[in-house]
Amino acid sequence: MKGVNAAVAAVLIGTAFAVPAPSPVELDKRQSPSGVFSALNAVDTAFAGVLNGVAADASEASQIFSAALTAVEDTIKAQATARPSNVEQAVSVVSSILTPQPTNLYKNIVQLAANGLGPSASDFNLLVVGSLVGPNSENNLNLRSPAQPIYPKKSSTDAPYSLTEAQLRRVIYIPPAFTYGSKSPVILVPGTGNTGYESFSGNYIPLLTGVSYADPVWLNIPEQFLGDAQINSEYITYAINYISGISSSKNVTVLAWSQGGLDTQWALKYWPSTRGVVSNFIANSPDFHGTVLAYAVCPSFPNIPCSPAIIQQEYNSNFVTTLRRNGGDSAYVPTTTIFSSTDEIVQPQSPVTGASAFLNDARNVGVSNNQVQAICGGRPAGLVYTHEGVLYNPLGVALAMDVLRNGGPGRIDRINLDVVCNQIVGTGLGLNNVVLTEKAIGIAAVRILLEDNKVFDEPGIKGYAA
Ligand SMILES: *[C@@H]1O[C@H](CO)[C@@H](O)[C@H](O)[C@H]1NC(C)=O
Repeated sequence: MKGVNAAVAAVLIGTAFAVPAPSPVELDKRQSPSGVFSALNAVDTAFAGVLNGVAADASEASQIFSAALTAVEDTIKAQATARPSNVEQAVSVVSSILTPQPTNLYKNIVQLAANGLGPSASDFNLLVVGSLVGPNSENNLNLRSPAQPIYPKKSSTDAPYSLTEAQLRRVIYIPPAFTYGSKSPVILVPGTGNTGYESFSGNYIPLLTGVSYADPVWLNIPEQFLGDAQINSEYITYAINYISGISSSKNVTVLAWSQGGLDTQWALKYWPSTRGVVSNFIANSPDFHGTVLAYAVCPSFPNIPCSPAIIQQEYNSNFVTTLRRNGGDSAYVPTTTIFSSTDEIVQPQSPVTGASAFLNDARNVGVSNNQVQAICGGRPAGLVYTHEGVLYNPLGVALAMDVLRNGGPGRIDRINLDVVCNQIVGTGLGLNNVVLTEKAIGIAAVRILLEDNKVFDEPGIKGYAA
């Protein structure tokens, strides 16, 4: 690893930012064409414009996404060997790069990649030209029929689907080891810009595979969750009723990350049949109130379009406002939220009751809202954790395991906080898990740059919710 070069780091991540030790690896200037830096500066100008309330003009804006993509690509391809040497260093580098807002996500991704914590060159090639296969597949052959029909509706009070049953069913990836009801099913719902496998292969897939108290499946949703959040919610709804229906009608747990939490709440609100079969909802870094940082990934919106799901995750979007109305800001099933005040994507996440992740409990179903800083404050597990870092945070992992083993909502009085708050990553996780989990956010950023179906206006609210 190379030594510190604060000047290069400052160019990459903005002047208002100092990099603490251990320092990120310097980008090799010989391998990084100057075009990378000018492209990043163009992106930076756009971000600055957004932060100051002045959007770039349309002609400038039209080049920003391709410039950013080129910059990310060049930088990722220029680095090959950087890698943190241990988990302490990995977590420290991540927290030094992904500081709280104001943030420049694309530059941060480049920094992560330069430190072996972002997509590699081969990942990048796959993202641009590859197809999603194996555990990332969006087209799975799920031949079993549920015990009772669940389509077109499981219950007369459910909203209508706009997708066919075949479309809904094929996004569910069921691993060969799935027991169809011998163990408790867990449905893993990804974050924006990811497949389920990308979001969870570094954390809950390895943690839950082979244990007696959980049986994971995951969702690989078309457009990697960047399309209309209302449609994304249809996939979650169907998966809940389908997985229960092919598992001896057992209840399921939904473990979600980011938009996965928001859309699961939408599913529970508008498809009441799901509530009867979800024992637990575990929401990691959810944005039940969207995020004031949504347009950090679309800095020139509305001059150039943005992905529907990102527009819908703006703090006061129609989607968020509609969801929260009539008790949608309260849990429908026993719910455990886990979040970090230093989330670089979803804000605000503090104070606890004002956090986007916070859910009320008007129906008395049981909610526990857990901000890692509020519970482990001052100790390692309560320091700087990112949006994705919540997935390997020791308290987050301990709470998820508590829910799965003991029933939800998660309770910190069932957790040994003296042990857990002094860990850096959850029990059972190590350096490879941190690297893979951090990669998910870089993959999401590239997907947002690449996505074809961007729009100028938020999708209309469907009739069933309007
Ligand atoms: C299934 O989940 C629902 C809703 O959380 C709950 O009321 C019900 O008791 C659960 N059933 C079983 C068998 O756990």
